Amino acid sequence: MKKHILITGGAGFIGSHVVRRFILKYPQYQVINLDKLTYAGNLENLKDIESSDNYHFVKGDIGDAELVRDIFDRYSIRYVIHLAAESHVDRSITDPLAFIKANVLGTVNLLNTALDKWGPSFNGLFYHISTDEVYGSIKAPGLFTEDTSYDPKSPYSASKASSDHFVRAYHNTYKFPVVISNCSNNYGPFQFPEKLVPLCINNIKNQLPIPVYGQGENVRDWLFVEDHAAAIDLIFHKGVVGETYNIGGNNQWKNLDLVKLICRVMDKKLRRSNSDKLVKFVTDRPGHDARYAIDAGKIYRELGWQPSVDLEQGMEKTIDWYLNNEDWLNHVTSGEYQQYYRGQYQS
Ligand code: NAD
Ligand code: DAU
Repeated sequence: MKKHILITGGAGFIGSHVVRRFILKYPQYQVINLDKLTYAGNLENLKDIESSDNYHFVKGDIGDAELVRDIFDRYSIRYVIHLAAESHVDRSITDPLAFIKANVLGTVNLLNTALDKWGPSFNGLFYHISTDEVYGSIKAPGLFTEDTSYDPKSPYSASKASSDHFVRAYHNTYKFPVVISNCSNNYGPFQFPEKLVPLCINNIKNQLPIPVYGQGENVRDWLFVEDHAAAIDLIFHKGVVGETYNIGGNNQWKNLDLVKLICRVMDKKLRRSNSDKLVKFVTDRPGHDARYAIDAGKIYRELGWQPSVDLEQGMEKTIDWYLNNEDWLNHVTSGEYQQYYRGQYQS
C-alpha cells in the first residue's frame, strides 16, 4: 500500500535509524522527515539515503501550526511516527521550558493538525515514541510493565509523560488512532556525544576524564538503536491501535560497570591499557533516577520482536562506528556541544 509517512525528528539519533530503515525497506512509501535541526539534529546522519526518490526533508518546528498544516496538505499525510523531542535529561534541568515547548506543545500541535485533517474516519495512525523514564525509578528486581503507574521525576520525563497523556487523551476523547511505545536507553551510531555511551567513547579516544555521576551505581537498561528501529517498524505495521508497548533489551547495567566495559573494548581496539583510570566521579545529577528496567514481554509475545544483539556485541559495533567516523564526531563536537561541555564539567 502507498503510504505517506511523516517522521518527526528524523535527523536525530533514533529518528535517523528509523528513516533509513523505512527508506530502504519500503521503497513504495514516501517518507517526509520534519526536523528543526537543533544541536542534536544533523543531516549528516542521513547522507547515504538523502537522494532517495522516496525521501523528503522539511526543516521546521513541530510546534509551527502553519508549517505542519501545510505539510499534511502537501503530502497527504495519513501516518505519523513522532520522535522529535528535546531528549537530554541534564539539559531539561537547566531549561525545562524548552522541553515543555518541544515535547508537550509540539506534540499537541501535531495531534491537533492530524485530528483536523484526517476527518471523522481517522483512516491513519499517530505513532508516538516515548521513554521508560515516564515510569520513574524502580527497585530491583522489579520491572516496568505497560501497566506501571507514571511517576516522572525529571523535567524531561515530566514533559514526555505529559505528551503521552495527551496522545492517550486524544484516543479516548476523539477515538483518534494512536499507538505508543516506551523504550529503554538506546546506544549506537549517530548518538550525540552528550549522552553517556558516546561521551565515554569520545573522551577515552581523546584521553579526557570520563565524568561518572555520583558513585556510578545507577542502573540503566540498554538497547542497540537498530533493535529499537526494528521494534518501531513492527509496531507501526502490526501494533494494535490504542495499545502501548514497552521496548527493552533486558540489559540492566550499573553505569560504572558499563563505563568499564567501554574502557575494556576501547583499550582492545586502540591497543591501550587502563582507560578506566580516566573515570572521574563528579557531582550527581539532581534527582537522578536510581534504576530503570523494562519488561518487554508484551512485544515479545504479541508481535514477536526480540533484540538481535546483546550489549557486548552492540557495544563492539558502536565503538567500531565511532572510531571509523572521526569526521562526524569532530564535526558534532565542534559547535554548541563544546560550549555545553565546558560549561558543565570545568570547575
Ligand atoms: P535526539 O535528541 O538525538 O534527536 C531529537 C531530534 O528531534 C533532533 O533531530 C532534533 O533536531 C529534533 N527536534 C527537537 N525539537 C524539535 C522541534 N521542536 N521540531 C522539530 N524537530 C525537533 O533524540 P533521540 O535520542 O533520537 O530520541 C528520539 C525520541 O525517542 C525522543 O522522543 C525521545 O524521547 C525518545 N527516546 C529516546 C531514547 C534514547 O535512549 N535516546 C529512549 C527512549 C525514547
Ligand atoms: O531511558 C530512556 C532515556 O535514556 C531516554 O528517554 C533519554 O532521551 C536518553 O537521554 C536516556 O536518558 P538517561 O538520562 O538515562 O541517559 P544519559 O546517557 O544522559 O545517562 C545515562 C546514565 O549515565 C544516567 O544514569 C546518568 C549517567 N551519566 C550520564 C552522563 C551524560 C553519567 O554518569 N555521566 C555523564 O556524563
